[in-house]
Amino acid sequence: MHIVHIAVEMAPIAKVGGLGDVVTSLSRAVQDLNHSVDIILPKYDCLNTSQVKDLHYQKSYSLGGTEIKVWFGKVEGLSVYFLEPLNGFFWAGCIYGRNNDGERFGFFCNAALEFLLQSGFHPDIIHCHDWSSAPVAWLFKEQYMHYGLSKARVVFTIHNLEFGAQLIGKAMAHADKATTVSPTYAAEVSGNHAVAPHLYKFHGILNGIDPDIWDPYNDKFIPISYTSENVVEGKKSAKEALQKRLGLKMADLPLVGIVTRLTHQKGIHLIKHAIWRTLDRGGQVVLLGSAPDSRIQHDFVNLANQLHSSHNDRARLCLTYDEPLSHLIYAGSDFVLVPSIFEPCGLTQLTAMRYGSIPVVRKTGGLYDTVFDVDHDKERAEARGLEPNGFSFDGADAAGVDYALNRAISAWYESRDWFNSLCKRVMEQDWSWNRPALDYMELYHAARK
Ligand code: ADP
Ligand code: GLC
Repeated sequence: MHIVHIAVEMAPIAKVGGLGDVVTSLSRAVQDLNHSVDIILPKYDCLNTSQVKDLHYQKSYSLGGTEIKVWFGKVEGLSVYFLEPLNGFFWAGCIYGRNNDGERFGFFCNAALEFLLQSGFHPDIIHCHDWSSAPVAWLFKEQYMHYGLSKARVVFTIHNLEFGAQLIGKAMAHADKATTVSPTYAAEVSGNHAVAPHLYKFHGILNGIDPDIWDPYNDKFIPISYTSENVVEGKKSAKEALQKRLGLKMADLPLVGIVTRLTHQKGIHLIKHAIWRTLDRGGQVVLLGSAPDSRIQHDFVNLANQLHSSHNDRARLCLTYDEPLSHLIYAGSDFVLVPSIFEPCGLTQLTAMRYGSIPVVRKTGGLYDTVFDVDHDKERAEARGLEPNGFSFDGADAAGVDYALNRAISAWYESRDWFNSLCKRVMEQDWSWNRPALDYMELYHAARK
């Protein structure tokens, strides 16, 4: 089968959050199943071109009087076509956040379909994502399906319904199949007006992570390679490297890591509370967070200053986006905290487990589907063929965070053997695309029936 993704993010060259990871890792998993996958992306000025192999200009075409240059290159073994409209839509500034985002991405979607048509592509599936490539679904049904792309079917994936619900609703109406990124989030949004009329074609398929991209045995950003067999040694050296790099006290203390966009979705007040609770319990905290909203950024800068005076040896807030540091945090922390208000899937808890860090999460969306509390979820885990793998809580309040975090930190202090065996166990769980990629293939086939 030939699948074309039309998307505005792709890790590691144009990533803001998990959408970028999924475009790359789902595509690689499907390609590994011997299907052909192409990706169409805007050619942003800010593209991390050092990670694109053999990037070269291919040809030009025009859409409504605008000339569009097509560039081609390989990213993580995937074929990527980069569209550069000469109207300057993707020059200057980066992926999101300009006041004409809707217009820019609308044009990109149209340009991507026009490119497929003019290049004589005949994909079986066109897969688009979130509000930013939602227009693909209706442009296809209203125009391109009748021209020369008639063989294709459209699959639309909701990664986050909080943004652009109106555009998402239009795409849901036109797509042949629609998905979201976990079964529980699918159930949570099933009453939403953008989703409710389309439940008959809507499925929750859990995201995976790419085990080659996130691999503690082969990771240039951590000091020593490790697997579940030498997890204790591997994590000890990563923790020391992390402490050293950030100027924290080099001590054997429970270390809580947080890697996140700092937005309302991620539970800002719960993150702050957890920082103080961890410090009260004698632990260390490292937060790596980027805040698109300047007020939230300012708030965390203040908190960082406060912690600098009171707990400089045990807390570090790194208020930036830093891929290499994120690897070291996953490897060097004992726990990774994800206290989201809502979370369609969440990848950081999965990555944490791949590096033997124990997730401490709020029970919502994909967090509920992937984290099974050691004290409460034995049966639910068993039903998935798993053993419990973390700590979780319900309420979006301080008491909720305390309930999970206190149990997690106490377990670390009270029984290191038990804790180490938990680290080993979570590393051995398979949160890759092995299973979900098959689910997507099944869905693609069903879309074509
Ligand atoms: P979302 O897409 O809602 O941000 P996910 O958990 O699905 O949440 O994906 C977040 C991705 O972005 C993960 O790969 C995580 O490691 C990465 N990430 C988030 N914040 C940062 C940051 N400040 N620096 C580096 N990577 C980050
Ligand atoms: C969104 C969601 C996140 C999900 C990611 C990838 O950004 O917020 O929960 O993991 O998309 O699907």
